[in-house]
Amino acid sequence: MNKNMEITRHRIYRTDQQTRDNVAEVKLQTTDLIYPMFITSGMGVKHPIPNFTNVFHVSIDVLIDELKIIVSKGIDKVLLFGVPDFDEKDADGTSAWKQNNLIEKAIWEVRKSFPTLTIITDVCLCAYTSHGHCGVINNDVVDNDATLPLLAKMALSHASAGATIVAPSAMMDGQVAAIRELLDKNGYRHVGILAYSAKYSSSFYGPFREAAASSPSFGDRKTYQMDYRTITQGISEVEADIEQGAEWVMVKPAHTYLDMICRVKSQFPERKLAAYLVSGEYMMVKQLAQIGMANELNAMLEVHYAIKRAGADFIITYYASELAAYLKG
Ligand code: PBG
Repeated sequence: MNKNMEITRHRIYRTDQQTRDNVAEVKLQTTDLIYPMFITSGMGVKHPIPNFTNVFHVSIDVLIDELKIIVSKGIDKVLLFGVPDFDEKDADGTSAWKQNNLIEKAIWEVRKSFPTLTIITDVCLCAYTSHGHCGVINNDVVDNDATLPLLAKMALSHASAGATIVAPSAMMDGQVAAIRELLDKNGYRHVGILAYSAKYSSSFYGPFREAAASSPSFGDRKTYQMDYRTITQGISEVEADIEQGAEWVMVKPAHTYLDMICRVKSQFPERKLAAYLVSGEYMMVKQLAQIGMANELNAMLEVHYAIKRAGADFIITYYASELAAYLKG
């Protein structure tokens, strides 16, 4: 350092909590959060999911009770996953769009009890197919174009039950356009699409696949989900989804892919961007706290603020309920 140069005094911004609060640039609010929930058949069911701390399979009646608590904390957006019974699965995942299936009933009941709640539903076949892939199999590969009409039918079923937004996560090319077209044709122009646009093939989906019983029975998802060594493909995926009619786009996972959140936000600043703190990322924080190597509240806040700092508008997170309780004070 040059002897004549003034030292820049950064520590003045950190002297005490009040000062740090005053200079903070990133905000985290309960309305940024989207709470994922897993719905199962039966009555009065609230089963803990093994290795997925504080996440449960709930039956529809319990879902409604849980939502009363969650909504009272200020959460206004949920992401619903239907977990069908094993005997309903088949090669094409036909129970995914069957009238009056579990997820339709759940959406219906939630809509009835919470007229203004933003109900987002996952649109993907993996929990409904006997082989656990996100699309139908032809000649041993996941057949992109044969899957599109099935995803569209699934989205239509959710829309007709009262979903606010459908969220296609199968990573089939053209899925947003196929869904948009069928929704529009049936009078659901008002139902939005949150596209899982830049969704990477990731090792961090483990606890979720336990929860949704959706692991592929052979191979992996690398022929449709993105390779984590790619960047420009993610931008191109987002661009394509916007062109096809997605209102909101997503980067997934979130915490391992902060750079992609940042890139997508700077490329498409006007577009609402969601980021999904996926099950394995969530469990990393939980486990670190569990072995006493981090204070859970502090670690939880840091991770979610980092995702907001990178540029996400919304965070899909299993911590939503705990965070909302904290943010409420
Ligand atoms: C469905 C889907 C997955 C997740 C969300 N939707 C699993 C997958 O792609 O294998 C993962 C979410 C999580 O890990 O929390 N395709």
